[in-house]
Amino acid sequence: MPEMSRRSVLTLGAALGLAGVAVPRAAWSWSPVGSVLGSGSGTDPQWVWDDDIDRIMANVIDTGQVPAVNAAIGSWVHNWQPLPSGLPPELAGFLQGSTAMPAWADMAKLRRAADFNRRKDTYLFLIYGLGGGIMSTVIPREAKSVYWSKGGADMQDRAAKTFSFGYDLSDINAFENSGQFKVTSNKTRMVHAAVRHLLPQSPYWKAVADETIPISNQDILVTFHSTGTFAHKKLKEWKVPMSSADEEAFLHSWQVALHFLGVRDEYIPATWAAAHSQAEQILTPKLAWTPEGQDLAEVLLGLTAQVDLGVTRGFLNVFVRYQLGNDIGDWLGLKRDYVSAATIRAGWPTYIAFREGLLPIAPVGFYMFDQLVRAIAMAFLNRGGSGTTTPITIPDINRPG
Ligand code: HEM
Repeated sequence: MPEMSRRSVLTLGAALGLAGVAVPRAAWSWSPVGSVLGSGSGTDPQWVWDDDIDRIMANVIDTGQVPAVNAAIGSWVHNWQPLPSGLPPELAGFLQGSTAMPAWADMAKLRRAADFNRRKDTYLFLIYGLGGGIMSTVIPREAKSVYWSKGGADMQDRAAKTFSFGYDLSDINAFENSGQFKVTSNKTRMVHAAVRHLLPQSPYWKAVADETIPISNQDILVTFHSTGTFAHKKLKEWKVPMSSADEEAFLHSWQVALHFLGVRDEYIPATWAAAHSQAEQILTPKLAWTPEGQDLAEVLLGLTAQVDLGVTRGFLNVFVRYQLGNDIGDWLGLKRDYVSAATIRAGWPTYIAFREGLLPIAPVGFYMFDQLVRAIAMAFLNRGGSGTTTPITIPDINRPG
């Protein structure tokens, strides 16, 4: 993959609303002092994976126990449920600890985050679905891993499972006993561990990968910045009203989510300022086009266009350009439409102001934006078109080719 020049990193960063860094691919220098732990080794998280569960899942796969594990976790859905029986003792032992809330979790903040997610859900659907979702397709390591793993063969199903994660995290009861997030995130952690064992055995992935083991702690942080940090940036840029308690709570739900995904506490940013500074270092310089990402982008945009509310694919293309900038729009070959682009630039900020009660009269184009927001929300709530929760299961093979 060609390295980006300093200038292109800065232009791209500016388009995304993220500041670029002075030196592309600079060595890791983010200080653990800015983390929820407040201290740490300073080791580059690119070389940190999830050792205990990685070893356990590798053993589950190598000893042919994946079907038994999938059967056992099938009915394990809610946070209140005890661990299912029938798990290998080592795995059960691990999950016993990994489903516990971290000591620094604050339930009052998490409840506020749930309420915030509900109040701002339309913008969040749009930012995650069209912004973060499409940005993930120009994060080469993520796109290549997703494409060449088992789920890559059925992108629609794969997208539906990822929506489930976002849905469970945004749910009003996410971290309560009646919620599902602790279970969903632990299943995801197991899937990631399985993928770390499987993908290095794929000749297709090995031919295109620039790493030996996928999904490092740094990769997970990059995904957080392309979703959570990006959402924070866009909400601020679009002047969506948020109190500082709301902003803090929103970050907190992501902090706990990252912990549950196996990111070490020394890398989890304690504040939005620390998160943005980490994103500047590890997100923007990594963005690039790949054939795998192109394929993935087509599927994701197709999912939203399927919800027939008169939102055309052309309008979606332009809205993606509005959120992610023209560099990414050009990489993905998203058609330009100067009239729609001008309408969005002028109309979207006033649409938000009206929705937030800051404007007395509905602006021109209100209906069009409302339909866009509805279409995205439906694609999201309908879990990518499947209509039902697609259970997360452990893969035991890669994409066959
Ligand atoms: C699987 C979420 C980061 C690659 C999954 C699943 C979820 C998920 C919910 C289970 C759905 C499924 O089985 O398809 C997340 C979240 C992340 C994150 C919330 C970070 C905030 C990453 C990163 C990579 C990655 C950084 C790669 C660089 C994969 C792959 C699968 C997977 C390859 C398995 C697909 C399959 O074969 O079924 N992820 N993920 N994920 N994730 Fe992630």
